[in-house]
Amino acid sequence: MINFTFEGEPISVEPGTSVAAALLSHGERITRLTRFNSTPRSIFCGIGVCFDCLVEVDGEPNQRSCITTVKEGMVVKVQHGS
Ligand code: FES
Repeated sequence: MINFTFEGEPISVEPGTSVAAALLSHGERITRLTRFNSTPRSIFCGIGVCFDCLVEVDGEPNQRSCITTVKEGMVVKVQHGS
């Protein structure tokens, strides 16, 4: 199993799992909050096109969770303001 954290919560998934799939399978629905009004957004297209699933990964913002594979020790956070 691959272990990572989302908003400080530990999550374990099978190798090769995308961040989006890992979050959905653990009941996490919000990946980012919009710049205006902090409206919650989540996975929409699931294929890297819509950019609604952006998260912060290891301090790097604007990572599409649907096309980012989970890696051991990865720190994933909700993205604010994009
Ligand atoms: S869900 Fe559309 S880019 Fe990730």
